[in-house]
Amino acid sequence: MRRLLFAANWKMQVDPAEARGYAAQFLGATAPVEGRTLWFFPPAVSIESAAGALRGRPDIRVGAQDVHWEPKGAFTGATSIPLARGAGAAGALVGHSERRHVFGESDEATGRKVRALLNAGLTAFLCVGEKLEEREAGKTEEVVLRQLRAGLAGVEAGALSGLVVAYEPVWAIGTGRNATAEDAARVHQTLRSELGRLGATTRVPILYGGSVNIGNALGLLAQPEIDGVLVGGASLDPDGWAEIVGIGG
Ligand code: PGA
Repeated sequence: MRRLLFAANWKMQVDPAEARGYAAQFLGATAPVEGRTLWFFPPAVSIESAAGALRGRPDIRVGAQDVHWEPKGAFTGATSIPLARGAGAAGALVGHSERRHVFGESDEATGRKVRALLNAGLTAFLCVGEKLEEREAGKTEEVVLRQLRAGLAGVEAGALSGLVVAYEPVWAIGTGRNATAEDAARVHQTLRSELGRLGATTRVPILYGGSVNIGNALGLLAQPEIDGVLVGGASLDPDGWAEIVGIGG
């Protein structure tokens, strides 16, 4: 059976106490589904309480929304991989479009973070996606391939088993607009071919993200190229998110 990943990105929301309340409600509304893994990405301050409250469900993992590539040092405001791991993180998002476009994070910085995560044995969720003007200029493929190659620069083929890729068209994030399932699947195919050229021997999960909700999730997941979803807004309500992670299961 095909494995599916459901990833919840809470962004700058859900404090430690709210994370405990969310977890209790979510756990009460769901049971593990064979072949499905659930990831939660709380803000850094809530990783520990989310991980603690969700412990005991072997299908659930918690990750950080961002990490620094250095293990320690004078980087005020940043979260290192050892700090995130100590709080209960098993992986991290890297290069989310808000990191790239709001915080000006470069392709090169993204690559350093991916390498540091994989070297530490954590799962790296490398996010890629084109802006609206890039899509309209016919540059979707060029942009996502550039981001993928830069994000994986210096990564040995054998380490790709610790990787998840998320395709999130920037124009679809938080806007209520999303790519059609067929459009998304075409981009996933392009990414998958490139992963093959880079030497991936196992199937790297490729998630779709951008205004995913209960109404469109099933159509997206019906595409064999789409291995799961990365969800912001629709993951904030525990009952709504429970419905999405159970969809079609
Ligand atoms: P959205 O966010 O589901 O609210 O569009 C997705 C994301 O940014 O990961």
